[in-house]
Amino acid sequence: MTIPYPNTQPMPAIASVTPPSGSSRPRVTFLGTGYLGATYAICYAELGYDVLGFDVDADKITKLNAGEVPIHEPGLDELLKRNLAAGRLRFSTDIAETAEHGDVHFICVGTPQRADGMGADLSYVEASVTSLAQHLTRKALIVGKSTVPVGTAEWVEQLVGKHSPADLGVEVAWSPEFLQEGFAVDDVLRPNRIVVGVKSEWANGMLYAAHKGVFDLAATEDREVPLVVTDFATAELVKVAANAFLATKISFINAMAEVCEASGGDVTQLARAIGYDPRIGNRFLQAGLGFGGACLPKDIRAFQARAQELGAGEALRFLHEVDLINLRRRTRVLHLAAELLGRRAGPAGPDLSGTRIAVLGATFKPNTDDVRDAPALAVAALLHKAGADVHVYDPQGVENARRAVPELTYEAGISEAVAGADLVCVLTEWADFRNADPSVLGDLVAGRRVVDARNCLDSALWTQAGWEYRGLGRP
Ligand SMILES: NC(=O)c1ccc[n+]([C@@H]2O[C@H](COP(=O)([O-])OP(=O)(O)OC[C@H]3O[C@@H](n4cnc5c(N)ncnc54)[C@H](O)[C@@H]3O)[C@@H](O)[C@H]2O)c1
Repeated sequence: MTIPYPNTQPMPAIASVTPPSGSSRPRVTFLGTGYLGATYAICYAELGYDVLGFDVDADKITKLNAGEVPIHEPGLDELLKRNLAAGRLRFSTDIAETAEHGDVHFICVGTPQRADGMGADLSYVEASVTSLAQHLTRKALIVGKSTVPVGTAEWVEQLVGKHSPADLGVEVAWSPEFLQEGFAVDDVLRPNRIVVGVKSEWANGMLYAAHKGVFDLAATEDREVPLVVTDFATAELVKVAANAFLATKISFINAMAEVCEASGGDVTQLARAIGYDPRIGNRFLQAGLGFGGACLPKDIRAFQARAQELGAGEALRFLHEVDLINLRRRTRVLHLAAELLGRRAGPAGPDLSGTRIAVLGATFKPNTDDVRDAPALAVAALLHKAGADVHVYDPQGVENARRAVPELTYEAGISEAVAGADLVCVLTEWADFRNADPSVLGDLVAGRRVVDARNCLDSALWTQAGWEYRGLGRP
């Protein structure tokens, strides 16, 4: 039966929905135990669900079963150990065991940018859904959580119909995910909304039961978690629309930074002043090196590619500009570095040979070890390509950064990175860097020059300590 949409009211009575396994609450699985799936599996065990995490990466599964979180995410280690010990959580590379375990299967595999264009690579979604569907032996609900182009849920439904026995009546739903790395545990346990795209009351009821732990926790804390029940297409679009909005807000203030650079204005004061207007708000309004990571850049590109396919490309043409503004911030740091070091840019860009540069930060933001499409690492690579001897330190990202860009020199601490440097570039706003003492660092460097690419340092303090200071979008 079709239920009315949109429906932002609490779910209607759901008591009649009994999990097909016969257990009192749905048994849940998470296919793909990366940043999204591992966090979910662990947090849902914490909420009391009987959870199985599945991945094709055997190393990851071995680590998780041994109580080792393969990513850096504050708070997750302790929850993993506690829930493994409680027997509510296990991890497997066996798809038949996964199919047998779950009433609700969440698809959390990657959807990276395709190698041959801007669209999303759906091969991992296809592989995981197909193998799961082939192994199902009773009715179940398959729920997509990965970020996908609109239309994917309908296609997944067809895949499931093709690969699972028709008499089982396996159903599909979509529930996009909004967690932020660095805050992921709280975002999963205490989401600011839950969005579900469903086609039947049964799917609606099962999804409610699979989220009931979140609603119950909210009730004990006197909070409410808004629920938006909608159709497949809207659920898929909510996620990419939200990311497009956030990316646009960041690029808007970075565009203002460019105008400030040309006119002598100060974008940090400008942002503060416009942010007081509650219609604008001050969040996501910090000018700096721009956005990166495994989501925003590839999501706005895939959104444009999909809109183009649907004949709505014009509507999202501005996202191309959002992307370009974002990428221009990276070359701006290269040119600022050259300026501070007294190097002029030729037709092939600046020549920084013979200089030593300390890069503080490699991850795309603080409190994560994720370096995927990290602006910091991209700038470090640009500086290296321009001939500089680049020494990088990051509190959590060094291991991943070394794998991604092995040609840079990685250091074990801030002091080691800045020792003998002609220039220090702060490229990720880790608290360790924000709170570093400029006088102490000043004694270690060869030249007191700093590029604050995140506008996160106290410029007056650094200037007083004798540093030549340059922020982005500031005089
Ligand atoms: N990372 C985030 O903050 C975040 C937030 C919201 C949404 N998302 C979306 O969630 C999805 C996953 O992102 P992520 O950052 O966790 O990616 P990830 O690369 O960290 O994890 C993906 C995992 O899927 C596994 N995998 C690949 N093929 C598989 C298969 N056939 N069966 C089972 N597992 C398989 C990989 O081994 C990997 O462990 C993406 O669509 C992303 O856009 C991510």
